[in-house]
Amino acid sequence: MDRIAITGGRPLEGEIPISGAKNSAIKLMAASLLTDAPLRLTNMPRLADTRFLGRLLERLGARVVELEGDQGAETILHTPEIVSALAPYDLVRQMRASFNVLGPLIARTGQAKVSLPGGCAIGARPVDLHLKALEALGATIDLHEGYVYAQAPRGLKGATIKFPFVSVGATEHTLLAAVLADGETVLENAACEPEITDLADCLIAMGAKVEGAGTPTIRVMGVAKLHGATHRVVPDRIETGAFACAAAIAGGEVTLTNTRADYIRALVDKMTAAGVEITETNDGLTIKRNGARLKGVDIETEPYPGFATDLQAPFMALMTLADGESVIRETIFENRFMHVPELTRLGADISVQGGEARVRGVAGLTGAQVMATDLRASISLVIAGLAAKGETVVNRVYHLDRGFERLEQKLSACGAQIRRIRGSEGGDED
Ligand code: UD1
Repeated sequence: MDRIAITGGRPLEGEIPISGAKNSAIKLMAASLLTDAPLRLTNMPRLADTRFLGRLLERLGARVVELEGDQGAETILHTPEIVSALAPYDLVRQMRASFNVLGPLIARTGQAKVSLPGGCAIGARPVDLHLKALEALGATIDLHEGYVYAQAPRGLKGATIKFPFVSVGATEHTLLAAVLADGETVLENAACEPEITDLADCLIAMGAKVEGAGTPTIRVMGVAKLHGATHRVVPDRIETGAFACAAAIAGGEVTLTNTRADYIRALVDKMTAAGVEITETNDGLTIKRNGARLKGVDIETEPYPGFATDLQAPFMALMTLADGESVIRETIFENRFMHVPELTRLGADISVQGGEARVRGVAGLTGAQVMATDLRASISLVIAGLAAKGETVVNRVYHLDRGFERLEQKLSACGAQIRRIRGSEGGDED
């Protein structure tokens, strides 16, 4: 398996183009199952997760074509007919978001058999809210042997669904099912993440009637059929935030393009409070740090527009070198501090109690071998490595490949000393 080696201590200077959002792209790809006409997605990230979902969609009957268009990478998805409504365990296990084909399959064919995703590295991650919402829309749901068997032979029916707490996945999943239901569906306490608005915009372009996406109340008036459309994927706010933290820890001046500062407002406010200079541009933001030490700042993760759970690990990496203490509270997932022991290997001083980590800034980090445990933890190790003295080697980088497109190229274009060591070079840690 590949590794990434970083020699830290160089400031970053230059421009980094941000890719389309992974977390949006995979839900938009699932939306393509709702129509027999082609859906063309532009600004598509090319990642292990999107390739993987493409393969699952092909099994269900989609033709998936990836090409380089005049607006960059595009994917055209076309499912004239659903040839199978089965998403097997081996495919859903490898990527959780595959579970989101359940709603579109029921909506389009009246039945589906989809494996439960199972737990994952960052906590239990149940799907009970997804299933309750589909039941509220009239689907009959049975669980056997790790599979969801769903039936709605006479189609789904609109309903009012109040989520007990905010769930991005359940909001998206319900939206995907409700657009073809008979009558009106109201989603209350819906998630407001930009990826929800993006999904709604794409569905609207396909002929769906959706109002209120981006607010806690979304109204859907079901339609009988959707048509094809072209839709541009929104910028990846997590990649944006992670590169902002990378630029800040390394020092220098980096401009992030093809993105939006307002998607990471909570992070920008905390970075500014810590002493980073951030300026908004027409299509992104510039991050500058002039060598002065940052101040420790506290954060608490929250649903959008609060501080994103996906940016908790990158921000923690930044805080390892700040002056004073930073208290980091994780409220979304119960097991999302797996980067802590790895950051400690680089010399960070962090203690964890329950959902709270206390980071006491140190004067310097030192390169070491570290292990990536999940996607967002992995990028925090790269970020810390950019500032550590000597060489940091991040093992198990397949986690990074799931969510970061051309990571080494983007960072090395700004002067970082970072390279990929292919699995065959010099053995492997796994
Ligand atoms: C979450 C994040 C999202 C992030 C993604 C990937 C939030 C609110 N969501 O989305 O920003 O991009 O992880 O890291 O920050 N839950 C249930 N039952 C369900 C569904 C969820 O109990 O059926 C719980 C989860 O365990 C979690 C919380 O609800 O504690 C929020 O989960 P949810 O937003 O659904 O997770 P993701 O969609 O994966």
